[in-house]
Amino acid sequence: MVNLIIDGKNVTAKKDTAVLEAARAAGISIPTLCAHESVSRSGSCRLCVVEIKKGNRTRIVTSCLYTVEEGLIVDTKSERVQNVRRLVMELLLARCPESEVLQKLAKELGVDTQPRFVADSDKGKCILCRSCVRVCEEVVGVNAIGLSCRGSHKTVGPPYNENSDVCIGCGACAYVCPTGHIEMETTENKRKIWGRTFKMQTCDTCGRYFAPVDQLKYISKKTGVPLKDLSICMDCR
Ligand code: SF4
Ligand code: FES
Repeated sequence: MVNLIIDGKNVTAKKDTAVLEAARAAGISIPTLCAHESVSRSGSCRLCVVEIKKGNRTRIVTSCLYTVEEGLIVDTKSERVQNVRRLVMELLLARCPESEVLQKLAKELGVDTQPRFVADSDKGKCILCRSCVRVCEEVVGVNAIGLSCRGSHKTVGPPYNENSDVCIGCGACAYVCPTGHIEMETTENKRKIWGRTFKMQTCDTCGRYFAPVDQLKYISKKTGVPLKDLSICMDCR
């Protein structure tokens, strides 16, 4: 176990725990966007910054990536931290002014929702955190989406923005997206996502549509469980 001080509080955490989790376990909240429990950490949104002190040196680090150290002193709300966080928030909001999630967070952080930076109008609600890409690769294992183009033209989606023939319509990307950028529409027997329409499977027991057929076929292929045995929804299992 490792002993450290966060916001003046003595905290004990397991070795290799991120400062973010150690703070949360101690009841201290830190704003985050890209740190989702289902995917590996990328440290891309920079909203979770905190100030750490080791000896006489202080510096700003991302709490979702920085792990606890014996004797570390962490300040999650110092003036320096708040200034960096507000600047990050302003930049994110200028990129995605329409994101309700960002607007709400900006208000909570005391950031004017009319950013002083020129607002983009072509980025949708995507902050390029790559959580969607990671979940598709790391958890689902199909690699249906990725980043394309460079610099300010970088976007996320299926290769060449064409319909992906490996996408299974599971919606994991929409689930982990922190800003609501990925549009997924599920109506009774159909699900639309990334420009494709997926047929939904009915539950053999209750008759309710519950998952895309392509997703069940993929699970069946991966696990060897017959498709017939997967055609029962979670409620009826
Ligand atoms: S679509 Fe969402 S999850 Fe994917 S990179 Fe953009 S903000 Fe992140
Ligand atoms: S939550 Fe830490 S960088 Fe995004």
